[in-house]
Amino acid sequence: MDNITRTQRVLRYRENDKVYDRIKRGMPYYEVEIIETVGKPSENLVIRGECISACAYLKEQGIKVDLVYIDPPFASGADYAKKVYLRRNPKLAEKVAAAEQQMDIEELKAFEEKMYGDIWQKEDYLNWMYENLLAIKSIMSETASIYVHLDTKIGHYVKILLDEIFGEDKFINEIIWHYEDKFATGGKRLDKNHDTIFLYSNDEDYIFNPIIIPKDETTKRALRKKVDGKTVEVRDENGNKIIVEYSEKKADDVWDLGRTISKNDLRDYATQKPEPLLERIITASSNEYRDEEKTEKMIVADFFGGSGVAAMVANRLGRNFIHVDIGINSIQTVRDTLIASKAEFQVLEIKDGVSLFRNPQQTMDKLATIIPGLQRNVSGISNFWFGVVTEAKLGTVPVYVPNLLNTQEKVLDIPTINTIINQELQNLEVNAKKVIVYYIDIDDPKAVEKFIKENNATEIEVELKDLKNLLHEIVIEDIVEFNTTKTKEGYETEITKFISDRLIQKINEFNQKGNLQSLTKGKKFEPISISEEGLELIELISLDCENSEGQWHSSTEVKIDKLGYVIKDGTKTKEFWDGKITSDKKPKRIKIRNISGDEMIKVVE
Ligand SMILES: C[S@@+](CC[C@H](N)C(=O)[O-])C[C@H]1O[C@@H](n2cnc3c(N)ncnc32)[C@H](O)[C@@H]1O
Repeated sequence: MDNITRTQRVLRYRENDKVYDRIKRGMPYYEVEIIETVGKPSENLVIRGECISACAYLKEQGIKVDLVYIDPPFASGADYAKKVYLRRNPKLAEKVAAAEQQMDIEELKAFEEKMYGDIWQKEDYLNWMYENLLAIKSIMSETASIYVHLDTKIGHYVKILLDEIFGEDKFINEIIWHYEDKFATGGKRLDKNHDTIFLYSNDEDYIFNPIIIPKDETTKRALRKKVDGKTVEVRDENGNKIIVEYSEKKADDVWDLGRTISKNDLRDYATQKPEPLLERIITASSNEYRDEEKTEKMIVADFFGGSGVAAMVANRLGRNFIHVDIGINSIQTVRDTLIASKAEFQVLEIKDGVSLFRNPQQTMDKLATIIPGLQRNVSGISNFWFGVVTEAKLGTVPVYVPNLLNTQEKVLDIPTINTIINQELQNLEVNAKKVIVYYIDIDDPKAVEKFIKENNATEIEVELKDLKNLLHEIVIEDIVEFNTTKTKEGYETEITKFISDRLIQKINEFNQKGNLQSLTKGKKFEPISISEEGLELIELISLDCENSEGQWHSSTEVKIDKLGYVIKDGTKTKEFWDGKITSDKKPKRIKIRNISGDEMIKVVE
């Protein structure tokens, strides 16, 4: 962190003895679209977008939050994956139904999808966290607190940022969340069985309700009270001490809470935290209402919401909630779980011009496949470059693509261009005549062009290209065929065919990998095969019988769980899906979500 100095909102970057303003943009504000309203319009929000953009939106709307819990990616070096389960094929329902008793979850065919990457350089990570924390602070109410959930590797570095942003005097606690129910990792050190959660307040006057927990064993002790600041024992009229039994105590800053999540609550989200942890946080640092008249509910916000545990617990404890996450799987998981618990909320999407393919990580992977002729990991080309393309007249052309996981890289600014022309071009070990620099936004296009002209000491041409044009091509829709017929009770829509090229490609890759492993390691592998109708690739069907455009209104929906059972409008049933969905009114639109989370909407003719 040596070459970075910070001031409020402006991060300066020192390079070649010059100091550049790295971030003066503050929080970028983008258009926000309401995707869906579930139940009556309420203050509860599920927002798909980046933490910073969501904060900008809330600020613009004048919304302040009363408690923040964040569990951001940890810089843990992990690539988290989501297991994707093929559903039962409804056309084979009878055959499978006969074997229903034996069917267990392990037999379902699962393959994995990358959910979000967590591989960072420490410095990049801290810069990114700094920006996020500043944005969050700007929408915290005066009495709000923030819990920042980290691990032992990065926690201490982030603590320094927190001290800087909130002030050392606003530091309240370092909570050690200790869990013994983790497999012993062994090795030449003690087992790592805790996470660190830092608690800061926004101002002196913050909410704090002591957490009362049961004692392991009841104890007897003389009753005491405070008199003139001194603790004294209370005595009865005969002068005897009063002995009381204590079965409860106030929790301290070490929380022994298991991290195992019961099968029923498990949401297939790699980093899902247990509800009791959030229960403690929310009860300790928020109340149900802001005012005595009980007109305004307190808002609990999680800007890296994941599976939505904070939103679920906040809702159960009568608080309002704001759930933000960049990944589509998170938004779908929390939406479906909230519907099952009959919550009312709106789903919003931040339109920042970047059409993501499910999440930033998968978009980066996909980009590598759609830049024509791109080769990755070429020798003589540093990691700074995404790869190279080969052009007939020019030969090798290195390509730079901003890392979509890092907000700072989304804006091409002078410091980045400076790094490119004064460092990367000069260090190229290949003989290049041109480089391509993709950008999402440019800080000041004219200034950037001018800077290149005046400072590029090499003969290498720098071509700037808009990445958004490529990103638009990245999302290819699935194809669905269906018939809607009028019945005595209403309408019946039957799905006859579902084709998802994206999933088929994924499954092919999975099969190839499996086959290879079975050849090289002698492991038994049964490839996944998809039926002609492809209905086993469907996770959810929703009908909108109200509008044929605009915000989605789910008049009725069928979700097919991992075992093939139907969840109808949030209620679990013991029925297998038969390929149909019924509605009272004629559907105007149909929405289908595949098992990887891609959604498509089709208007019913
Ligand atoms: C450690 S997980 C959170 C898990 C969550 N506490 C739970 O219990 O399920 C971190 C989450 O942050 C999301 N994320 C990563 N970068 C983000 C960003 N810039 N803005 C918002 N969410 C982001 C990821 O998609 C991921 O779901």
